[in-house]
Amino acid sequence: MAAEVTPGRGVVLETDRLLLRPWRVAEAVVQREVWTERDPRVPSHRRIDADGRPTVAELDDAIRAGWPWSTGLLAVERKAAGDVIGYCGLIDGDLRCAGESELAFELLRRVWGRGYATEASKATVAWARSSGHVRLWATVWEWNTASRRVLAKLGFTETGRKEVDAVRGTTLDLAKRL
Ligand SMILES: CC(C)(COP(=O)(O)OP(=O)(O)OC[C@H]1O[C@@H](n2cnc3c(N)ncnc32)[C@H](O)[C@@H]1OP(=O)(O)O)[C@@H](O)C(=O)NCCC(=O)NCCS
Repeated sequence: MAAEVTPGRGVVLETDRLLLRPWRVAEAVVQREVWTERDPRVPSHRRIDADGRPTVAELDDAIRAGWPWSTGLLAVERKAAGDVIGYCGLIDGDLRCAGESELAFELLRRVWGRGYATEASKATVAWARSSGHVRLWATVWEWNTASRRVLAKLGFTETGRKEVDAVRGTTLDLAKRL
């Protein structure tokens, strides 16, 4: 894994098959595809609403404004195909884990099951370690077998903290000391 920090332009990480780098405006269409594919159990504010929002134009504006991707959710590009297949990166700590960042990843369904999420996340964790992070955390739905497996392969373990939602399911907190 090679890492390059371009001042003012974010982080670029490279693995055998992938490049993790800042989003380009033309890729708003990929972000929207990610939104359209979300599981119906995902909260409505993270799904396309009845008016079709966010639209590609709105996501396009968000990329131009550098939000939220500039905080560390990088576009995952396949080096061989040159296509963007989703995102992986770190979200700045919130009140729950002040000062610590959360690992997040989401890929288009057509590329699931080929080890891409694990490969991208390993690079992100290595970058976090080399950047001075001492612990990362993640939240995952109990029913999300694929994501839980990725986090287990990376060495994340459950903290014991969970949030029960009778409708959507339980979310689990996991953490990894670096
Ligand atoms: C989670 C996600 C990123 C995984 O991407 P991916 O590239 O398919 O992941 P990988 O191929 O690296 O690893 C997936 C692992 O889960 C396993 N897996 C997937 N579905 C499974 C299932 N239904 N039952 C058991 N294991 C399953 C795979 O076999 C693989 O494990 P293995 O390497 O031991 O065989 C992808 O499913 C996704 O985008 N989901 C929707 C968004 C999401 O859940 N994001 C994470 C929020 S916490």
